[in-house]
Amino acid sequence: MERVIIFDTTLRDGEQAAGGSLNVQEKLEIARQLEKLGVDVIEAGFPFSSPGDFEAVKLIAKEIKTPIICGLARCNPKDIDRAWEALKGAKRPRLHVFIATSDIHLKYQLRKSREEVLQIAREMVARAKGYTDDIEFSAMDASRTEPAYLYQILEAVIDAGATTLNIPDTVGYAIPAEFGELIWGITQKVPNIAKAVISVHCHDDLGLATANSLEAVKRGAKQVECTINGIGERGGNAALEEVVMAIKTRKDFLNLTTGVNTEQIYKTSRLVRELTGFVVQSNKAIVGANAFRHESGIHQDGVIKMPITFEIMNPKMVGIPASTLVLGKRSGRNAFRKRLEELGYDLSADELGRAFTTFKELADKKKEIDDRDIESVIKQELRTITEVYHLDSVQISCGNKGVSMASVKLLSPDGQSIADAALGTGPVDAVYKAINRLVRVPNTLTEFSVKSVTGGIDAIGEVLVRIESGGITYSGRGADTDVIVASAKAYMNALNRLLIARKASR
Ligand code: KIV
Ligand code: ZN
Repeated sequence: MERVIIFDTTLRDGEQAAGGSLNVQEKLEIARQLEKLGVDVIEAGFPFSSPGDFEAVKLIAKEIKTPIICGLARCNPKDIDRAWEALKGAKRPRLHVFIATSDIHLKYQLRKSREEVLQIAREMVARAKGYTDDIEFSAMDASRTEPAYLYQILEAVIDAGATTLNIPDTVGYAIPAEFGELIWGITQKVPNIAKAVISVHCHDDLGLATANSLEAVKRGAKQVECTINGIGERGGNAALEEVVMAIKTRKDFLNLTTGVNTEQIYKTSRLVRELTGFVVQSNKAIVGANAFRHESGIHQDGVIKMPITFEIMNPKMVGIPASTLVLGKRSGRNAFRKRLEELGYDLSADELGRAFTTFKELADKKKEIDDRDIESVIKQELRTITEVYHLDSVQISCGNKGVSMASVKLLSPDGQSIADAALGTGPVDAVYKAINRLVRVPNTLTEFSVKSVTGGIDAIGEVLVRIESGGITYSGRGADTDVIVASAKAYMNALNRLLIARKASR
């Protein structure tokens, strides 16, 4: 069976999605998990685009050893030089250069002729090749490029040293049969194609990204670019979990394989969801909350009699643990540790101690604790988020008559306890105003959402906020059985990220 190269671009195209904002440490954490997942290539960022991206690519290049680490650059010398600067510490670096090739982009965006673009592409690939052997070239908007011109430019960049040719469906416009034809055409019409690997990069504007990617591998592509949970520009990119599980589940038809350890999929999906703040819809294939839940009586009956009746994949294959233990107030440290191990957490004694304390506090408030509770609260405790300000306490008074009032106590960076109070139109407004009086960073709250992690009156409330400051968006998450406390935690989390990012860019 032929192996498809899985190129993960969660940290580049995924993070590029509106509202995406990961800091350097969060990117490294995701890269570590992608390495465990077994992807072949990690596109770690676009170094020229921001100092944060540069630092993240540099750090990931230094720390992550098994996959190839890739950095994106436009076809211009400054971009390429900067990308190489970030990548050069990698064990296996890849420079990825791109330029648009469709007449629409040439005419309206680049304002250049086909000959000029061909010349630039050739020269810039040669420049990149001066740094490293592993060069990927992307013909942006390839699916709307005249095929004859696309073949010509691909032939030229292979001659200049490109080893991977990426064919993006940049605007998610292609239809599977048509996209497959384009890939097949490349295998037939580009004379030196045997010297390079064909890659595809499909966007999901019409919901066809996975279908287009699979059709492409049937017709000659050997690398698929994708993101965890399908995050990315606009409708997103082909979802890694869909592409990989389709290849695994339908190996009878596709006769292909990947190097992905599918049992790490669920954990990776949760991590990306949590750090990016991009919610995964319940009916999302493979990783949505309902992906393996059977509601109708007929389906439940079938699954009880024989899972294969309605289940084409076993949830264990993607790392969704089959819960047997229900944890509660009287559960001991051993049962707790065992549950965490089943969920894929490998904790040090100190981390286990801290997590167990948080678990016990939660168990005092909530009768039964399931996996979703554990992941929501415990994981938050485990991650050592560098905090500038720490939320110490929050008190509110609110109701249907009169204004709401909140008092908040924080620990400031020098360890001082600082407190203030504020009035607001509601309890969250009052809490946020009190925090603002203490932290004093101008920002606008652009998104606020609350959801319950599980059912029941004692459920944990999970709050996601996004704040905007200086043109950059920062997300924050908080979880607690009290939604006002969760709201305060989420806001503090976003503010801390903002403050840390500012400090790093100074
Ligand atoms: O969608 C696209 O065309 C891209 C390229 C930069 C590869 O993301
Ligand atoms: Zn893209």
